[in-house]
Amino acid sequence: MIQHLHRKYDRFIPRYTSYPPANRFRPNFTEKEYLKEITVSNGENPSHLSFYFHIPFCPTMCHYCGCNSVKLHDENELIAYRNALSQELDVALPLLSTERKVSQIHFGGGTPSTLSFSSIRLLMQAIFDRFDGIDSPEIAIECHPGYVNESFLEELKNARFNRISLGIQDFDPAVLKCVNRVPPRIPLETIIHFIHSEMNASVNLDFIYGLPRQTPSSFLQNMEQAVLLRPDRIVLFPYAHLPQLFKRQQILEKAGLPSPESKLEMFEKAVKFLETEGYRQVGMDHFVLPDDELYQAAITKQLHRNFQGYCSKRTTGQVYAFGVSGISQLSGCYAQNTKNFSLYLSSLASGHLPVERGYVLSPSERITREIISSLMCNYAVEWAKICESTGKSSCFDSPNFRCNRNRLNTLCEDGIIELNDNGIEVTEVGKPFVRHVATCFDPFYNDIKYD
Ligand SMILES: C[S@@+](CC[C@H](N)C(=O)[O-])C[C@H]1O[C@@H](n2cnc3c(N)ncnc32)[C@H](O)[C@@H]1O
Ligand code: SF4
Repeated sequence: MIQHLHRKYDRFIPRYTSYPPANRFRPNFTEKEYLKEITVSNGENPSHLSFYFHIPFCPTMCHYCGCNSVKLHDENELIAYRNALSQELDVALPLLSTERKVSQIHFGGGTPSTLSFSSIRLLMQAIFDRFDGIDSPEIAIECHPGYVNESFLEELKNARFNRISLGIQDFDPAVLKCVNRVPPRIPLETIIHFIHSEMNASVNLDFIYGLPRQTPSSFLQNMEQAVLLRPDRIVLFPYAHLPQLFKRQQILEKAGLPSPESKLEMFEKAVKFLETEGYRQVGMDHFVLPDDELYQAAITKQLHRNFQGYCSKRTTGQVYAFGVSGISQLSGCYAQNTKNFSLYLSSLASGHLPVERGYVLSPSERITREIISSLMCNYAVEWAKICESTGKSSCFDSPNFRCNRNRLNTLCEDGIIELNDNGIEVTEVGKPFVRHVATCFDPFYNDIKYD
């Protein structure tokens, strides 16, 4: 039955990490529009401030990498970049109301620690000099274990990070060698013990399935090893192979990628195992312990997602992004910075924000975004909650709002969703097809046909 559904629904559908997806952002979105939207965002919900810093540099490059990352060639680039980030903060922060509180700061990349910890601390200080935080704001950083040693851990502690993501990808040195990834420098047990006991912080471990040399049983061994470390969260990313976009990935085709069936089996075996070990699935790819606030948010259907990842109602905020390629996510718009390093520096040197493209959402698109976000996070939609969060008395009265009823009925007949007067529930069988449910509300996919 499920195989039949996989065949029927085998289409390219966006991952809907945002609505509209980033490939539909407008290239003629201007800095002026963004500045206006920043000011408007002070009166919008969620009211909390969430800051993202993108640090694109890496000391060495992994062949599979699909992030906006570049090899660091010259230490002077770091100085120029740190200064540009400060200039960007100088333009944006004065526009934000100081009555708002900081709920998240996230350093991502690339490998954010290529910027010195003293620079990282200065950026954080610029924020906390101006704004108060909520109780325990989430201060997160992505770390490559190949560059973590004892002094690095002390720096993390002094900078007061409380959520550390460690990119493991695979424990097997043969897999790491094949993808050109530096193995951990000190034992992971030491790193995780320090983060838990010396920093009282939490640890995410990232894995990728679908890399060369991986098999369902070798990936299961990774999970067996991972649970012994008792991380707070485990994140399983399907390897996204986009060699046209990321030329460095081409080399992996020669090494031999696992088949789609084998990749699916890796995920299914891992999910079953993690569940028996007490981890609970949250959203598509996160596995957390039952006392995690994400799990609590998921069971009460209050899980949110922004470009920083999944979050609870407590921590969610409008996202203001800094650095090359950073995407800001406000209630009224998205704005993405240029990916071009020189252009990024020169825009800021001339006092301008380096915005390259973006999107202003119409009232009906805001409703669609709420519905799609609720489906992707909570596998359900409650019409009353959508109306509450968008301030509408009915979603369906809003001009230009689209809902493809025929397709929803087909998904219902196929057992993917249950429909009732209060909303939509995605069934257990239907979870792998949740993106198809989302397309019923996306006018861009109005004409999609299934055999
Ligand atoms: C910015 S990167 C990692 C941070 C740090 N530089 C590291 O390597 O550990 C964030 C995560 O994206 C995931 N990732 C990168 N490229 C990917 C791809 N092509 N497909 C799926 N996941 C990918 C990896 O799991 C990685 O840990
Ligand atoms: S996975 Fe991390 S270290 Fe490797 S190239 Fe990508 S961002 Fe850099």
